[in-house]
Amino acid sequence: MTIWQDLLDKAQSVQSRRIGELFEKDNRAGGFSRETGPFLFDFSKTNIDAETLDLLVKLAEVKDVAARAEAMFTGEKINDTEGRAVLHTALRNLDTDVFVDGENVMPEVRATYARMEAFARDVREGKFTGQGGKISDVVNIGIGGSDLGPAMATLALAPYHDGPRCHFVSNVDGAHIHDTLAGLNPETTLVIVASKTFTTIETMTNAETAKRWMAEKVSDPAQQFAALSTSAEKTAAFGIDQARVFGFADWVGGRYSMWGPIGLSLMIAIGSEGFAGFLKGAATMDAHFRDAEFKDNLPVLLALVGIWHNQFCDYATRAVLPYDQRLARLPAYLQQLEMESNGKRVSMDGKDLPYNSGPVVWGEPGTNGQHAFYQLIHQGTRVIPCEFMVAAEGHEPDLAHQHTLLVANCLAQSEALMRGRSLAEATEIMRKKGFEGDELDRQARHRVFPGSRPSTTLLYPKLTPEVFGGIVALYEHRVFVEGVILGINSFDQWGVELGKELALALAPVLKGEDAGEGKDGSTRQLVARVQSLRG
Ligand code: F6P
Repeated sequence: MTIWQDLLDKAQSVQSRRIGELFEKDNRAGGFSRETGPFLFDFSKTNIDAETLDLLVKLAEVKDVAARAEAMFTGEKINDTEGRAVLHTALRNLDTDVFVDGENVMPEVRATYARMEAFARDVREGKFTGQGGKISDVVNIGIGGSDLGPAMATLALAPYHDGPRCHFVSNVDGAHIHDTLAGLNPETTLVIVASKTFTTIETMTNAETAKRWMAEKVSDPAQQFAALSTSAEKTAAFGIDQARVFGFADWVGGRYSMWGPIGLSLMIAIGSEGFAGFLKGAATMDAHFRDAEFKDNLPVLLALVGIWHNQFCDYATRAVLPYDQRLARLPAYLQQLEMESNGKRVSMDGKDLPYNSGPVVWGEPGTNGQHAFYQLIHQGTRVIPCEFMVAAEGHEPDLAHQHTLLVANCLAQSEALMRGRSLAEATEIMRKKGFEGDELDRQARHRVFPGSRPSTTLLYPKLTPEVFGGIVALYEHRVFVEGVILGINSFDQWGVELGKELALALAPVLKGEDAGEGKDGSTRQLVARVQSLRG
């Protein structure tokens, strides 16, 4: 395709151009920033110029991103390896009817939402109690999309948290549930079993453990359990009263599910008004994504910057760097969202991808990361595009001076990455410190920053429920657009299957119930060593 080749050529031709040079022309910052609602997205500190932007926008157009988005919003079965619609957007646009196979799916969504609201209110107000009285703690047991979303959101919106304490257990490692339950009172704890399929081994094993723990003190533990799942049958078999089962359809992908029942723990934590704000923020981003021209469309632009860096400049990873301690779980959440969605080597039509799949996504909140891995970002041999995000103000007016420092650090990092420090500048600094001759040169070279390293910044007033909902929806649509451009199905996850199957087969081998014939030498050696260490 010629646009693709044009972009490859363009990346080649600007390889040695310094990003800083682009600012010598008028209004670089304004021309390469866009605003919507509370957000300012600044992508001026990248090597994208007007011609590149034009080509990238054309790429999105020829790849039919708009038609594909419309197909998603209107309930077409765009997840075609599983034959499913993709309608997480319906969970946050409750007023709009959506039809799947000719049936309006919204009455059911609204009814479940109303039940969630009533249950969350009852828990918060003490109308739903445990055997020992008002619920003091909620334990959400789930993994992947049934954990990362609500766990991230509950931390992100901590200033709005006025309900019971919330805890999240995901790992099959018994240490996780052991340490979580250790400080809790079974008589005032509500356990939410969150699993789309209600078959995931980690979740079901932890749920059984929680049930046994509760049974030591509570005569009917199932009374203090709720379930979030697509399977009414399996939740009933587990013994959970259908009054506390909150269902959803298979058109909600696990990693896109916190907008509905999987968000119950968040709703209990912050109340249904806060939760409604979170949905509203996402719905506003949905409308922007659906309506805005590509050149002004934040999710499309964020995706195009991503595609430019990964597919055309060949930067294999990207760092997501929220300058917000309460977004500490965002990078982990985005790892699932981006890497489970776009980590695929086969296109929709089953052919090998002729280019890279989605990038490795990683990160940590600033300023912590600065004192850990930023060394490599500034001076390593690989270029790592950085995505900064920061709020203009925090939730702690008494600590506004700390927030100013936080923002200063965020802005300084993107400035440093772009500007760098030349050998001449480093030499001058070291000369003033008394170095000379060969030693001056050697010392100076260690202090050179190559600069011209790309970054984007997302700036917003404050991390409110609405803003937070908008950020997550922005990234969801970014992943969608990247997937459409790459021609892959962003909504299946076959790559997680093989390891699960092999783990199931290995458990009896470890227990000595199966000889493990056919296993490779390394696996057999490791099994034997575990067995001998356990005695
Ligand atoms: O194994 C991956 C996965 O299927 C994720 O896609 C999903 O979010 C997670 O497991 C948990 O699945 P479930 O909600 O069905 O327990």
